[in-house]
Amino acid sequence: MKRIAIYPGSFDPVTNGHIDIIRRAAGIFDLLVVGVLNNSVKKATFTVRERVQMLNTTVALPNVEIKSFSGLLVDFVQENKAIAIIKGLRAVSDFEYECQMALINKKMLPACDTFFMPTAQEYSFLSSGIVKEMARYGGSLKGLVPECLERVIAEKCAISRSEVQKPSLP
Ligand code: PNS
Repeated sequence: MKRIAIYPGSFDPVTNGHIDIIRRAAGIFDLLVVGVLNNSVKKATFTVRERVQMLNTTVALPNVEIKSFSGLLVDFVQENKAIAIIKGLRAVSDFEYECQMALINKKMLPACDTFFMPTAQEYSFLSSGIVKEMARYGGSLKGLVPECLERVIAEKCAISRSEVQKPSLP
């Protein structure tokens, strides 16, 4: 039986911290499905298509698939016949919320367990939000996101910065 795990997230955008978790989890499971949340409530900077594309551009592992999903994570887990959910933990502060999610997901789908992986120490400060903040103010993204995505992320965030700065009154 193939052991399949889901690594869900917004990936808005993908960071080197996410890539590190993908590599490590792919080394443990037969197949890792990265689930990109297509969330109509939470406004994302990048479209779901762009987020999937950024991951596909960066991750070239034979046992990793990138897919988008909407709705409940446990439904996506079942559709993919997965047995596990992978979550990266940066700090103790992540734990409370993630533990709550793990418990509700376990209640809805008892056959599936959540596995927490501590992020690599060098990425413990890193989040998609930090990346966007850096890019918005013209900071370097070197070492924060995959090198091949630095430009596209910087440009997209710079566009939204100029939109924010547009004067609203005549
Ligand atoms: O990268 P993020 O934004 O922290 O990822 C959050 C994600 C996608 C893991 C979480 O929002 C999620 O699982 N959403 C799907 C809806 C769901 O199943 N929620 C949990 C039960 S209320």
